[in-house]
Amino acid sequence: MNSNHWWEDAIIYQIYPMSFKDTNNDGVGDIKGLTQKLDYIESLGVNTLWVNPVTLSNHDDNGYDVIDYKKIDPLFGTEEDSERFIKEAKKRNFRLIFDFPLNHTSDQHPWFKKALKGKDEPYRDYYIWVDSNGDPYPNNWTAGFGGPAWTKEMNGDQYYLHLFKEEMPDLNWDHAPLRQEMADVVTYWAEKGIDGVRLDAFIYLDIDKDFPEHPEDFGSAQEVTSYGEKLKKYLSEMNQRTGKEEKDLLMIGEATSAGAEKILWYTDDNMVDKVITLQHFTDKADDKLDDLPKEKQHVPLDLNEFKRMQTEFQENLHDSGGPILFWNNHDRPRAPQKYGDMQNHRDNTAKMMATLLYLQHGIPIIYYGEEIGMNNVWFDDPGNISDKRARSFYNAAREYGWDHQTAMKHLNLTERDPSRGIMQWSNEKWAGFSEDAAPWIKATVESKYNVEEQEKDSSSILNYYRRLIDLKKSDLFRKGKWELIDTKETLYVYKRQLDNRIGLVCCNFSAEPEEIDLGSFKDLDTLELATEGIKVKEKTLQLPPFGACVLLNEK
Ligand code: GLC
Ligand code: CA
Repeated sequence: MNSNHWWEDAIIYQIYPMSFKDTNNDGVGDIKGLTQKLDYIESLGVNTLWVNPVTLSNHDDNGYDVIDYKKIDPLFGTEEDSERFIKEAKKRNFRLIFDFPLNHTSDQHPWFKKALKGKDEPYRDYYIWVDSNGDPYPNNWTAGFGGPAWTKEMNGDQYYLHLFKEEMPDLNWDHAPLRQEMADVVTYWAEKGIDGVRLDAFIYLDIDKDFPEHPEDFGSAQEVTSYGEKLKKYLSEMNQRTGKEEKDLLMIGEATSAGAEKILWYTDDNMVDKVITLQHFTDKADDKLDDLPKEKQHVPLDLNEFKRMQTEFQENLHDSGGPILFWNNHDRPRAPQKYGDMQNHRDNTAKMMATLLYLQHGIPIIYYGEEIGMNNVWFDDPGNISDKRARSFYNAAREYGWDHQTAMKHLNLTERDPSRGIMQWSNEKWAGFSEDAAPWIKATVESKYNVEEQEKDSSSILNYYRRLIDLKKSDLFRKGKWELIDTKETLYVYKRQLDNRIGLVCCNFSAEPEEIDLGSFKDLDTLELATEGIKVKEKTLQLPPFGACVLLNEK
């Protein structure tokens, strides 16, 4: 591996701009808000920012349905605001990653509007069309957000493909001018100062034009269209056109279903540098009931399976700099509340889960607000959740016999909206997010779990994160060999080793106090980092519920 890439030591902070900081008091976070909070972000010790889409969108999918890839959405600010943000970020030596949904556009994108004018329209080929065959739909594919993956055009007799949503038609990557257009977009942003790109949903770019049926009666189009053969060609062409190599642009591809083997398939050939997968979220799928829609049932994490996946990623991806390490993002409920105990052990749960994951080999992505132990937005009414399927799940669950609380718990711990709450800056009105405009999403205001109060408390989650990030920057935790220690299921213990430096990371992933015998580990005499309630007596480490610590063999 070329060892000079800037991103090898990246510690990424992900910002969902709508929810970070509102400066013009319209209830929606904006780019000026990002700029205003750069000093705060810098104080965390992270060195890279990933910003969810801020380009012009129809907001059917909060920015992932793009109308113009080069224009800033006025909802977030102006061109000048974005230039100033980039400039201020650079001043603080941040690297910037922008989010790039290149698989589809909004149906309001001028390309699609032109494409709709008819079969002879040059932009027609920017999208994927099939003739009606007399059946209600061309095949049995369903879209990611529900319903069929095909919609018939209003003034013609063809159907267009949409893997996610009717309002988000899929682009046709077979069409050379489209590919050039996309490379131009990346180049445009690179010239503006962007250092990396998150390639949204890139695994679906190569669609088999035979449109093979899904083996089930109706099945996810995404399942049968991912990882097409031409992907490599498309990506290498784009990398060449954008000058990726010379510019040392980081390409992070989103491939939610990729295991280590698939990840290596892309990274070995430098198609993408890193992959964001969801395969480490090893939920106990067998605990789900057959009688209710599975994707909206919350089940606990299978810790043995989790260890197996972590080992797969740590071992196989070691030589390529380790995997991307994350618990949270804008597409999943916040993990500490889903998998830990944020009711009774909130501080320790938040600290332990961060310690467990981020001190492994790889690149952490910290999702805004997790550093203060933010919980999910808790909805009381399925009608307030943007996914229309929430309501039908709720109705089915109630009919099945679940009470209101239970049905809502399952939704709040499986939906996307709950993770998108406003950043809790203070315990003032609207948590200091906006002045007096009600935020676009249900607001949570809490004492203690806000930046202002945690700044003042040396043992807060926030200050723990700062120490953790600092530790992550040491050679031992950047490069050291990783080894999982065999323990009972609810303990997660691993060793990092670099030459004769050793670090032992001990985590208790349960509500029971635990002990670990340190007898077989020599010279681990420095307790470098610890949550509340950690004790070492003789050679026995005592961990309270959800406690964690890091022991080192030298100082
Ligand atoms: C990615 C994004 C998600 C979006 C989808 C469609 O999975 O992370 O938020 O809805 O792609 O663009
Ligand atoms: Ca605003």
